[in-house]
Amino acid sequence: MILVTGAAGALGTLVAERLADRADVALGTRDLRRTRSPLPARRIDFDDPDTLATGFEGVDVLLMISAGAGEDDTVIARHGAAVEAAERAGVGHVVYTSLTADGDHLPYALPHRWTERRLRESSMAWTILRNGLYAELLAEIAAPSPEGRITAPLGEGRLAAVARADLAEAAARVAVEAPAHAGRVYELVGEQSVGGADLAQAHGPRVTYEPEAMSRTRARVAASGAEPFQVPMLVGTCSAIAAGFMARTGGDLRRLLGRAPRSPISAVLA
Ligand SMILES: NC(=O)c1ccc[n+]([C@@H]2O[C@H](COP(=O)([O-])OP(=O)(O)OC[C@H]3O[C@@H](n4cnc5c(N)ncnc54)[C@H](OP(=O)(O)O)[C@@H]3O)[C@@H](O)[C@H]2O)c1
Repeated sequence: MILVTGAAGALGTLVAERLADRADVALGTRDLRRTRSPLPARRIDFDDPDTLATGFEGVDVLLMISAGAGEDDTVIARHGAAVEAAERAGVGHVVYTSLTADGDHLPYALPHRWTERRLRESSMAWTILRNGLYAELLAEIAAPSPEGRITAPLGEGRLAAVARADLAEAAARVAVEAPAHAGRVYELVGEQSVGGADLAQAHGPRVTYEPEAMSRTRARVAASGAEPFQVPMLVGTCSAIAAGFMARTGGDLRRLLGRAPRSPISAVLA
């Protein structure tokens, strides 16, 4: 049996849609009312060990979707609890949605690398899906104002952005063919990189891109009511893009999908 955790999140919902006609899949989520899938669901909360002990029973393949944003110690505790419970329950294979290697400069890279290392040291087979940054995330960072101005501290940097739906499809494919992917690490970045000027052009002739100073962005995000850990997350993401660390494209996604990935611009506009 395949269990997909994080099934009510944006990525998990898309994975569930792709696996909806299979009899050997169950969904795991903190809040059972939030899944709108015909698949059976179990309550899975990495912060609640009881849900893991019962929820992982009978699971052969665990598609473990990384557990949201948080301070490093919070995310490490969640992922550590999930891996330990999976080992105890006799799960055979964990497929983990991680972060692209080029994201090592991102403020949230460390819990992903910690989890990768924990899985390599575990008693289970594993597959690491190193997801690139979502085109949808870039769309949020660089959304035009009502006056048609994109202000984001991306400089001339570019991002090999990926449509979230493509990452969901890749994850679903790997989960159902898990033994063929044991011990593999996939770099699931896009095939095209896009920058602020491309986004402005895609939004239409009246939209402009005006790179912003990071200090301004930081002040703006801090004043927006964001949690303290979210401020460096967002500014650090822009910084890594602006410094050119996130532009490298790759072909693993195409190989897993068996087709070309969606264009990042179409995902941004959608
Ligand atoms: N590559 C990127 O650009 C990018 C961008 C943002 C986030 N991410 C990472 O990728 C993950 C999936 O992305 P998304 O777009 O689906 O994010 P999302 O919509 O914000 O979903 C958050 C996810 O975290 C799960 N989660 C949170 N706390 C949890 C806990 N205590 N136990 C178990 N699961 C928990 C949620 O599961 P339930 O609600 O179903 O319980 C949900 O799947 C995120 O959690 C984050 O780690 C990647």
